[in-house]
Amino acid sequence: MKRWPWLLPAFALALAACAQEGGPAGRGRQVYLAQCTACHNSDPSKNGPLGPAIKGSSRELLEARVLRGAYPPGYKPKRGTAIMQPMPQLASALDELAAFLK
Ligand code: HEC
Repeated sequence: MKRWPWLLPAFALALAACAQEGGPAGRGRQVYLAQCTACHNSDPSKNGPLGPAIKGSSRELLEARVLRGAYPPGYKPKRGTAIMQPMPQLASALDELAAFLK
């Protein structure tokens, strides 16, 4: 440690980053960044290049929109378009996505 005193803070930082990535919201963030940010903003509270801001989306809305390309009964969509294709393969990640977006 004498030669590399900077190692300690770097290690602490890496640990902190790992802790942040943990938990349902952290895993949801990873799914979001991998699957959604081609169209939605990497900051979900802002509009993306194609998709609207989706911060605060409910589990119910996510399930309808992401799995089935639909909306919950009575929900008024932010856009009238139908560009986003359903992604039923993400069924197992819905709770985590909802935890990240809430
Ligand atoms: C191909 C681009 C694209 C991808 C990828 C995409 N979306 Fe979308 N999304 C859109 C667009 C565009 C809309 C607006 C409605 C439409 O045209 O389909 C939308 C609408 C939505 C809505 C409804 C917003 C509202 O309140 O009306 C939600 C929720 C949503 N997206 C979540 C997601 C999530 C979560 C992912 C990743 C798992 C994702 N989207 C991936 C383009 C995309």
